[in-house]
Amino acid sequence: MTLTVPAPVAAGPPAVLDRFRLLVEPELRAAVAALHPDLARMAAYSFGWCEADGAPTEGSGGKMLRSALALLSAELVGEAAERAVSGAVGVELLHAFSLVHDDILDADERRRHRPTVWKTYGVGPAVLAGDALFALAVRAVAHTQHASDPGQAVRLLSQTMVDLCQGQAKDIAFEQRPWTGPDQVTVAEYRAMAAGKTGALIACSLAIGAALNGSPPRLVRTLLKSGRRLGLAFQIVDDVLSGIGDPHTTGKPVLNDLCAGKKTYPVLVALSAPGPVATQLRTLLAAHDDLAGRGLVRQDDEDLAQIGGLVAEAGGYEQASLEARRLVQSGLAALNHDRFHAGVISELEGLAAFLLDRSA
Ligand code: IPE
Ligand code: IPE
Ligand code: MG
Ligand code: MG
Repeated sequence: MTLTVPAPVAAGPPAVLDRFRLLVEPELRAAVAALHPDLARMAAYSFGWCEADGAPTEGSGGKMLRSALALLSAELVGEAAERAVSGAVGVELLHAFSLVHDDILDADERRRHRPTVWKTYGVGPAVLAGDALFALAVRAVAHTQHASDPGQAVRLLSQTMVDLCQGQAKDIAFEQRPWTGPDQVTVAEYRAMAAGKTGALIACSLAIGAALNGSPPRLVRTLLKSGRRLGLAFQIVDDVLSGIGDPHTTGKPVLNDLCAGKKTYPVLVALSAPGPVATQLRTLLAAHDDLAGRGLVRQDDEDLAQIGGLVAEAGGYEQASLEARRLVQSGLAALNHDRFHAGVISELEGLAAFLLDRSA
């Protein structure tokens, strides 16, 4: 089978996302509705189904990429998408849990164009809402009907959660590390962190439909390998959007990661680039290391815009986009060695192209 380099997406998300959303969202809503009303409201708010007071909205929040991957996972091994709905619900619930807690960890006040769950309901209730989403995820997968191997899927999910937490712990620890000098975060360290915090769940998504339906562990491992590369690419694109994305489209403030001292891929590669622009960037960021004793760049600091500009000028965003493209290419190529359904591979290629060229 020949795999093609994903072409840039002309307009909007691929139709497969809408098709799969129709399969997954009713089950997702049913899972959330079983919670205590306060938890159900916070969970529904996090999905974009209601306002803060519970009044229904027209909107729906996220792209639902992970649940789409879970359904494609079943189709890749010749099963009907319907046989992976519980896995799709599980990964989407886990994703929602991770975002609710991530916004607390990152002290972020906006997501998907709205105030975050903790900002709306308070930190304590948001922690519990996240816990509930997590618990629902495990239950959805463990109690799957019409699948031959829920045990394999639960094992996959539990390892994914451990990896995600490891990645999040590294992400937070990196905030305290300097931008420059012997203690600076390396690109290799970044990769390990992002592979955990984001790669693990995307990899799990691409494997869970196969795992649920009793695919041999070797095939599941191939899907995980592919998904980890797609997941790392996804995080690198998220980093690019945090730097140069339009906040009206992303729904999150621009240069937020830089303010928080987050060690993102574009900044790390710009810091190690040759030439006078990178030298200027290192000098500016080194001053922040001295000033604050950690990598924070204050929001009201006029250096912020200048640093963002230097990252761009040193090629940080361009290099990051190229790396994301390479990772997607090699993630898709990893599927070359096993027999997966060719028509489904082309749907996956469409999703991968969207992942690279998305604006939110
Ligand atoms: C955001 O994920 C968190 C990351 C792993 C970067 P998405 O960009 O998939 O979030 P939604 O669900 O579409 O909002
Ligand atoms: C992504 O975290 C990974 C998880 C949420 C587990 P980030 O902090 O990088 O993602 P955004 O930018 O807040 O969505
Ligand atoms: Mg965050
Ligand atoms: Mg984070």
